[in-house]
Amino acid sequence: MLIRRTFLAATLAAPTLAACATANGGPLAALPHDPHSHANPDQARVTHVSLDLNADFSRKVLAGAATLTIAARPDAREIVLDVDGLSIASVRTNLGETTHSLGERRPELGAPLRIAIAPGVTNIFIAYETSPDAGALQWLAPAQTASGKNFLFSQGQPILTRSWIPTQDSPGIRQSYDARIVAPDGLRVVMSAEMLTPDGEAAPGGRAYRFRTPNPIPSYLIALAIGDLGFAAIGERTGVYAEPSVIAAAAYECADMERMLLAAEALYGPYRWGRYDVLILPQSFPYGGMENPRLTFLTPTFLAGDRSLVSLIAHELAHSWSGNLVTNALWADSWLNEGFTNYFEGRITEALYGAELADMQDTLAWSDIQRAIADNPPDSTRLHLIGERSADDSVNAIVYDKGALFLRTMEGILGRARLDAYLRSYFARHAFQAMTTQWFIADFRARVVRGDAALEARLQLDAWAYEPGLPTNAAEPHAAGFERVAEQVTAFNSGGPARDIPWTSWGTLQRQRFLQALPGDQTPTRLAELEAALGFNATGNAEVLFDWLALAVRNGYEPCGPALESFLTRQGRRKFVAPLYRALMAQGPWGQAFARRVYARARLGYHPVTTGTVDGIVTEG
Ligand code: BES
Ligand code: ZN
Repeated sequence: MLIRRTFLAATLAAPTLAACATANGGPLAALPHDPHSHANPDQARVTHVSLDLNADFSRKVLAGAATLTIAARPDAREIVLDVDGLSIASVRTNLGETTHSLGERRPELGAPLRIAIAPGVTNIFIAYETSPDAGALQWLAPAQTASGKNFLFSQGQPILTRSWIPTQDSPGIRQSYDARIVAPDGLRVVMSAEMLTPDGEAAPGGRAYRFRTPNPIPSYLIALAIGDLGFAAIGERTGVYAEPSVIAAAAYECADMERMLLAAEALYGPYRWGRYDVLILPQSFPYGGMENPRLTFLTPTFLAGDRSLVSLIAHELAHSWSGNLVTNALWADSWLNEGFTNYFEGRITEALYGAELADMQDTLAWSDIQRAIADNPPDSTRLHLIGERSADDSVNAIVYDKGALFLRTMEGILGRARLDAYLRSYFARHAFQAMTTQWFIADFRARVVRGDAALEARLQLDAWAYEPGLPTNAAEPHAAGFERVAEQVTAFNSGGPARDIPWTSWGTLQRQRFLQALPGDQTPTRLAELEAALGFNATGNAEVLFDWLALAVRNGYEPCGPALESFLTRQGRRKFVAPLYRALMAQGPWGQAFARRVYARARLGYHPVTTGTVDGIVTEG
């Protein structure tokens, strides 16, 4: 395995695959088969993407061309790309005319675009435009943004990039990129790349912005946003983009970014991407954050007003190592991205804000893991997922929290210094490469275990990586800060008054712990008392508000209606809205009528990622 990894590294860096096809079955065996892509990387690979696109807000399309640089085996006769909904106008190569064919579209996976190639083909030129309902793109009308101007943003992970770029859309296939994007006057373009023209250049139809990323990245990290964007510097390498009315609040919230970057580097080695900026998106952004290189995309629900949700930045920043430098080759191994990142996030949080906070995060995560194991079939509680599951299945407590707990368990057994030394070398040795669970475990054995049978037995590596549930060496974390919370849950539960709860002395995680730990059989009177005493509806912290609303809905507490409706219509983060609609639909006539009425109104403002989930929850009765 290790030999194969080294070999893969050499081949991906090489100018042509053919040059390295010497031993070990050739470099073309080096990537595992990706069930979520049509690409044929064992024959021919895209190594660079050059975009020249015009953003047409009236038609909701990106139109222009992509020029791909490819590396192919000398005997390769075609390169297969992933596309979804693209209108292809023409395809040429550096050698001139070629033939191409579009295969059958499969739901979620899009279609294969097969392009004939011959020896000597190094570039492919594709003139195309996107469809107005491209899954990766959301075109927002002025009424849907803070600035009252148009806004466009892309979301590539996991397999949506194929709906705006014709390329091989598999996370193991790394591609550098450059781009020239023309946007209407008055809007600014940003991308997950180095900005070559901060103010743009005059161009027909608006202004042209050029970008370049020298580092090869997986296609899901190519990202674009266009809007009325201001910028505020935070530190030397860090800053924040947001619509003008939000920029001051955003800068306040992001104050610790530069320190986080330094803390992350102190842990796992130099930041390899130059700048680290964040972009605050409009309210429809379906995720909490997305780790697009150099430019994290963040939900506006991050703006709590009191910096209480900054761990979101710690998480996306950590992906600059786990995920963006070393990338899961398959979505079935997304714990390598998210679990590592969750662990790394905890370490950054601890470095900046102390161990107590990190302990509380781990303890909440432990409860989430227990719930996931109790509520799901054993097969879906493995870290390495088996079978052809949806690539979008991976935002759950197994991938994130069980993944992080694996590393915490290693830390407990090896000691922090030894695990950190290994992780630093892991990121350095595999930088800009793909990773699988198997390769990771083999690498860890070769570097750390080194045949020590006693250590091997204590670690239970295979159980962690491949078995359902939790291995016997998983240790329940303990957070001193939650002891007081548990006492208050007991007190409230046995009839104690809500005003005795020391709410204002608690942080976000303690508040969440309290709301999550309350038994699910609260009377309306008790809930009204809580609501009045604790002032949920005035909080800027969306996590706490969500936990309150979830508790209220679970208990059929109808007076939460106005606050709930406001929350469901002013933001569209899937993690918040999907569970609330699900809880409403489980609530009988009141909840179902409420869900249908609010969803009918809110749906237009949600992103396709969110409606894709909620459509299946809120169905006509
Ligand atoms: N990379 C993920 C977001 C993602 C996962 C997008 C899977 C598409 C498919 C991002 O880093 C993330 O994990 N975001 C979390 C926040 C984080 C603090 C746990 C989110 O969006 O809630
Ligand atoms: Zn993540």
